[in-house]
Amino acid sequence: MIEAIIQMQHVFKTYPSQISALSDVTLEIFPGEFTFIAGPSGSGKSTLLRILYCSEKPTSGEVIVHGMHITQPGFKKIYQLRQAMGIVSQDFKLLKDRTVTENITFALEVTGHPREEAKWKALEILRHLGLEERESDSIFSLSAGEQQRVAIARALVNSPSLLLADEPTGNLDAKMTLRVMDILTDLHQKGSTIVFATQFTGLIKRYSYRVIQILNGQILDGRKADTNKIHQG
Ligand SMILES: Nc1ncnc2c1ncn2[C@@H]1O[C@H](COP(=O)(O)OP(=O)(O)OP(=O)(O)O)[C@@H](O)[C@H]1O
Ligand SMILES: [Mg+2]
Repeated sequence: MIEAIIQMQHVFKTYPSQISALSDVTLEIFPGEFTFIAGPSGSGKSTLLRILYCSEKPTSGEVIVHGMHITQPGFKKIYQLRQAMGIVSQDFKLLKDRTVTENITFALEVTGHPREEAKWKALEILRHLGLEERESDSIFSLSAGEQQRVAIARALVNSPSLLLADEPTGNLDAKMTLRVMDILTDLHQKGSTIVFATQFTGLIKRYSYRVIQILNGQILDGRKADTNKIHQG
């Protein structure tokens, strides 16, 4: 039997403000799946992803990612967990005072890639994302859409076997959105697992990928793709 790459069992998340962001979330995502996490603003998509990359702890419930029991008390392998994935966070989390290239090569150099190779790889992905002319610019000087593309480049430069992307095309125009989707489709076809959170139903409907629909912190249908059930809005 194939083992899930992501397992969430009865996960609840209540913020100190008493807002219940996730309520009894149970789901499994298998290696090689492309899965949209779909739901309107405030439905819990970012909370769910932040729990998967251990930037947030659930209030209760169990989460296993890449075979690591990340919710077990005393779990300390956050570095190892994040090495095994690419992350595009909704707020980009870029090093603002560094250049575009430095933001991308940083991730490679800490995993032992020689500087020249890291730079070459960074430039290649920047070319794919139409940012080659901005390679030496500081993040401060970029628009939101350009920063988002740098965040995507940083996550993809390692060809991660698991990509967690939170609204990664939210600041991009239609043409660039399609280009990013093509790059992700290519990564998926090479075998990577992709989890893509978005509130844009139009985007989801263009693809026949699995959809996990979330509303008010609850999974409505996590078993199979059925884009007809996604709420417009
Ligand atoms: N750090 C926090 N402290 C308190 N409440 C939070 C926090 N983060 C999120 N929330 C609340 O939890 C709920 C889910 O938020 P979340 O950011 O996960 O939604 P989302 O689906 O990602 O929304 P969006 O599409 O706008 O990004 C919302 O009601 C939000 O206000
Ligand atoms: Mg969000």
